[in-house]
Amino acid sequence: MPPPFSWTSFDLTDRLPVAWQDQVIATAAGADFRQFPRTPLISREAGRVAHVARGRVHADRVKQELPWLYEFYRGYSLRLVAGLHPQRVFPVRDDRYGVVLNVQRGNSMRFECHVDSNPLTGLLFCTDHPEGSGGELVFARDPLAGDVAAVEKDCSVIRPQAGHLIVFDGRHHPHYARRLRSESDLRVVAVMNFYTESCPESTRPRELNRHLYGDS
Ligand SMILES: [Fe+2]
Repeated sequence: MPPPFSWTSFDLTDRLPVAWQDQVIATAAGADFRQFPRTPLISREAGRVAHVARGRVHADRVKQELPWLYEFYRGYSLRLVAGLHPQRVFPVRDDRYGVVLNVQRGNSMRFECHVDSNPLTGLLFCTDHPEGSGGELVFARDPLAGDVAAVEKDCSVIRPQAGHLIVFDGRHHPHYARRLRSESDLRVVAVMNFYTESCPESTRPRELNRHLYGDS
């Protein structure tokens, strides 16, 4: 059995640039919104689910439009995450999956149920979602949970708060983001991938990069 799911939360409200949230939301408005096909290997969706609708701002645009976030990932966030782990912690070399934005607009989008392939993930929540408004991040306690229904049966629920960074190892506990309740709501999270000495970037499945970026 893997260890029980745990996460660490940092309130970075006073460590982010002035107007950071407005900038992120402006960038998120131009996200690539569509039906994303289920991800190979790491998906934990029911067999009938072929696509999940959501928005994504790719890493090149994050770097271009939110340079402070790119720096934040490789600087301050990295130091916070490294302080939690006994081994050395590394940001990615391949900028395509270093820091991206995941976006849900309206009440029909959610984030695919999956496990992570990287050993440490940092999520900077960029929007607030009060109780009852949806958009929670949900982790299965059972590592074998194979779809959203199974995750929901027994789970840890994290309510996004803007300016909070959470750090976790998501390799063993399937997780997904719930739909928002309101048609006019927006959920944006910055996703940061980190690796460690015992689980370096070279372990990232090639199939993932083929699926996401068309690598040969
Ligand atoms: Fe994840």
